Amino acid sequence: MKPIFRTDLMMALLFVASIYSGFEIHYAGHFQSHEVWHNWSVVHVVANVLFLVISIIHIKQHWNWYKSLTKITSSKKPRIITILLSLLFATTVLSSIYLLLFAKGEGTSAGFFHYVVGIIFGVLSIGHFVKRWKVFKKGVRKA
Ligand code: HEM
Ligand code: HEM
Repeated sequence: MKPIFRTDLMMALLFVASIYSGFEIHYAGHFQSHEVWHNWSVVHVVANVLFLVISIIHIKQHWNWYKSLTKITSSKKPRIITILLSLLFATTVLSSIYLLLFAKGEGTSAGFFHYVVGIIFGVLSIGHFVKRWKVFKKGVRKA
């Protein structure tokens, strides 16, 4: 399998771990104990450190795509959505760093902000992947 598709596959798996643990933390914040909230936070942080590492590799592999943004082309590719995805990714990561440094426990407004941005990021990520499903399937099959 080509490295880019191996990265895509890892992105997809880690994304599921990220979003699932994110929902579990949010649920625990409302209906469960602080201990459960804390345990899911640990899972979420570990999953997302891995997700971040693979995301950096994914972005590096597509660096030419970012460079192409500075040129005017007639490309019909979904550029706006991918630009939005990149910006939401950055906002989600920055808000998570803020949470780690400054927020104490569950129920903070910064935590809610991160949760909402995370969900929008999640929806765009699913669209991003679905749109490229055929390319991905072909790339994985060539293994
Ligand atoms: C790039 C992706 C993401 C990264 C790097 C990230 C990272 C983090 C980090 C570092 C924390 C702080 C944990 C703590 O204080 O112990 C956190 C909290 C949280 N994340 Fe994420 N996260 C990401 C995506 C998501 C997504 C997609 C969701 C939505 C389902 C989500 C939901 C949450 C929730 C609910 C919290 C707890 C907020 C609080 O009450 O303080 N995260 N995240
Ligand atoms: C959330 C999980 C993600 C999955 C499963 C995923 C998967 C994919 C796939 C299958 C492709 C096309 C095949 C390839 O060339 O690699 C692709 C392309 C690309 N991805 Fe992702 N991706 C994800 C998240 C992201 C994020 C967060 C960003 C930006 C921060 C991003 C930026 C790009 C870019 C710039 C391209 C190339 C341009 C294009 O095809 O339009 N991806 N991704």
